[in-house]
Amino acid sequence: MGEWSYGRLQIHMNKAFDIGVESLSGGGRAENAGPEANPADHTVHSDLSDQFNSRGKMSFAGGATLADVSAVAKSFGDTANGGTFFLETFGCQMNDHDSEKVAGLLLSRGYRQVETPEAARMILYNTCSIREKAAQKVFSRLGEYRERGEGKIIGVLGCVAQQEGQDIFKRAPWVSLVCGSASYRKLPEMLAELEAGNKRVTGLDNDTDETFETEITRRDNPWRAYLTIIEGCDKACAYCVVPHTRGPERSRGSESILREVRQLAELGYSEVQLLGQTVNSYADPTARRMKFSELLLEVAQVAGIRRVRFTTSHPRDFGVDIVEAIDREPKLCDHIHLPVQSGSTKVLRAMARTYTREEYLEKIALIRSAARPISVTTDIIVGFPGETDADFAETLSMLDEAQYDGVFGFKYSPRPNTPSLALNDPIPEELKGQRLAMIQEKQRVIQMARNLAMLGQELDVFVSNKSRRENQWSGHTTSNRVISFSSQERELLGSYVRVKVTDSGTGSLMGVPVG
Ligand code: 5AD
Ligand code: SF4
Repeated sequence: MGEWSYGRLQIHMNKAFDIGVESLSGGGRAENAGPEANPADHTVHSDLSDQFNSRGKMSFAGGATLADVSAVAKSFGDTANGGTFFLETFGCQMNDHDSEKVAGLLLSRGYRQVETPEAARMILYNTCSIREKAAQKVFSRLGEYRERGEGKIIGVLGCVAQQEGQDIFKRAPWVSLVCGSASYRKLPEMLAELEAGNKRVTGLDNDTDETFETEITRRDNPWRAYLTIIEGCDKACAYCVVPHTRGPERSRGSESILREVRQLAELGYSEVQLLGQTVNSYADPTARRMKFSELLLEVAQVAGIRRVRFTTSHPRDFGVDIVEAIDREPKLCDHIHLPVQSGSTKVLRAMARTYTREEYLEKIALIRSAARPISVTTDIIVGFPGETDADFAETLSMLDEAQYDGVFGFKYSPRPNTPSLALNDPIPEELKGQRLAMIQEKQRVIQMARNLAMLGQELDVFVSNKSRRENQWSGHTTSNRVISFSSQERELLGSYVRVKVTDSGTGSLMGVPVG
């Protein structure tokens, strides 16, 4: 799964390397045991948000490029009568990208996006329910909106909408729209019903076999374009709400994906990131029947594209062909996010992860056998019901064996509609906290050493941030490390700069431009 955020202004640099941070929407990083692991990354995030808000790009399915919202509204007919919406997003990259598409859809129907709830006729809130804290946050936020949004249409989108359904109206009667991600294409009709005086509208089907494709996507990140290639999830991990909230797996046709990538390249994007809860389970529904690795190679062929990323990979569907594709095509980035969740086969079985510790390590060995080094990051859940000290010790030793470049650690959180709910939540919070802190500490040491080993290397950096400090720039390497450097150049944003690593920390690198 993707990176997690807190709301509208948090901008997502994908999984920039981080350790043990419960970097989640709404629940916030604070739940995490131990100190903030990677303050450097956070600076980058907040700096970027300013730029992204003013520099987002619009992309059009037809291949046209047009960046004027009012022109867009006209070209699609001003059905919304000048209606305005405010859209706040919590959650993973999939949610962020859904919001970009929802915004595009509404813009195409004549609505106008505004920066504050006060300025809006309609407040839309795209929610996350992956862990309890995130879901709890939704209702307190809805309470705030009630005060700030009197007389406005308030709508709940996303995973909490799908999960709680009509119950949202009971707990927050001032809400008038509840819509899960599989129903977004019907949003304009639902909003029209509300405008026509209907008090409550829901879109809660999740058995649709369609994917959510829009004529326009209102992209917030000017450097990295996200692109969903597979929606939903068929894996049924015992702890996870996603199969319930996002429904069954649906892959998007390869031609449609490639068309959008071409259009993104025309708009000036050089980096794309293919998204899916299990992105490598991609199964082309069209006659071409492209394999995921073939799709990666074709996306990389698109003129103007210099970097192709993808997340999240599921270990079971991770085959040698993906590593071979990366070996063949330098534009495929040197980074794979491969959540392990636990190092104990017993716990993995209880989680229904469909692989053993040994099978997972075989995948790591495949990646390590690549011609060029590929960074691997992971997600870990501590305190899953039944996890003993011995099981946890296996997770710790997994960190040593796998040598990750980043680990996202989470305390187990029981969720509605998941198989593991029946197992209760027997591991005390305190013990979960201790285990999370041990993961963080071990990974901190591993990461320090791995980053230190990069001293002296020359890396291509895609510059995406200009610091408030003068002449300071930063960006990502192909392995998705954040690296900062100083340069007197007047404008480097959006360019690729060769940087020699001169200093390293746990979460980021420093360097000097070369050549
Ligand atoms: N409790 C804790 N962590 C969870 N994740 C998913 N569901 C839960 C849960 N119920 C974590 C997994 C997943 C990441 C995005 O969130 O590690 O890979
Ligand atoms: Fe959830 Fe497992 Fe699907 Fe990932 S693979 S979205 S953890 S059910």
